[in-house]
Amino acid sequence: MVTDHLGGDYLRQALESDVRTGLTSSPKWLPPKWFYDAAGSELFSRITRLAEYYPTRRELEILRRRAVDVAGLTRADTLVELGSGTSEKTVLLLDALANAGTLRAYTPVDVDEVTLEAAAERLAVRYPGLDVRPVRADFEQHLALLPRTGRRLVAFLGGTIGNLPPAAREVFLKELRATLRPGDTLLLGTDLVKDRERLVAAYDDPGGVTAAFNRNVLHVLNRELDAGFEPEAFEHVALWDEDNEWIEMRLRATRPMEVPLRALGLTVSFAEGEETRTEISAKFHREGVLDELSRAGFAVCRWYTDSSADFALTLTAAGSARPGVTG
Ligand code: SAH
Ligand code: TRP
Repeated sequence: MVTDHLGGDYLRQALESDVRTGLTSSPKWLPPKWFYDAAGSELFSRITRLAEYYPTRRELEILRRRAVDVAGLTRADTLVELGSGTSEKTVLLLDALANAGTLRAYTPVDVDEVTLEAAAERLAVRYPGLDVRPVRADFEQHLALLPRTGRRLVAFLGGTIGNLPPAAREVFLKELRATLRPGDTLLLGTDLVKDRERLVAAYDDPGGVTAAFNRNVLHVLNRELDAGFEPEAFEHVALWDEDNEWIEMRLRATRPMEVPLRALGLTVSFAEGEETRTEISAKFHREGVLDELSRAGFAVCRWYTDSSADFALTLTAAGSARPGVTG
């Protein structure tokens, strides 16, 4: 059922090359897309239900209020969702498009096959007659391979765009823009800058769910690359980088370690206290979002926020005109 662009050797080679580059760099880093195996996706689902993790609830609030408006403005027949995960919030868009009478097809796109397949099956049951076509792909590599038919609404929710560093974000937006045709639209979710305490708490819950999620990448490396990490010997660190306006997640070695990565023929040394960067989660201001979108060639048509202005959804068209922004 799933179209797989990560099959064969692809995923393994990408993982090997990312890990080799990241762990032989100084400072060390690991790429975040490798968090999301089945266990990682399950931990992320638990994160979305934490009291401290406000983004999911805020985005849901916006969708509850605005999905009908989005459906009316886009009149999309095909919803393509990047980094769709469990597709929980997506039903609001699907319901609105179905009620508008335009909806025909849904293509969820994710790296995690297990979660993707489960979501696709659940939605196929919920919407009989909907053409559900899940695609397992890397949205940084495979945008050109996504379906190009129909009047498309591309949804990129959850603030996941903030997990791309600025240069990669710019490339991603331009590539995405290049795949869209007149009439296509993009709905982009971005988390907004707010006070440091709330931001850090969302990425460092007292129950340790986020810590487990962060360490999960080490379990992935142990399994996929026959590595010898002791995940519990690494401490979860989440800090607010004020200059870059992003949350940075790290794993700190609690003692000196020599870790074999047998599949790479590599042994990596960690000093006590050494930190490996695993993820950034950039937070935005309205002007910054509108600016980045305009520079990538999107015409911004709506800016929606929740009642506390914690999170934003921006609706943009692929056309060249720049109508006034309302909302
Ligand atoms: N959209 C959901 C999930 C957000 S978590 C929500 O808003 O709650 C980020 C999702 O993006 C995960 O499901 C993860 O597997 C997926 N993902 C991360 N990097 C990806 C990449 N490079 N290509 C495709 N999917 C990716
Ligand atoms: N896209 C999510 C975000 O930036 C991903 C995420 C949430 C995450 N919590 C995390 C990634 C903790 C790494 C560690 O909010």
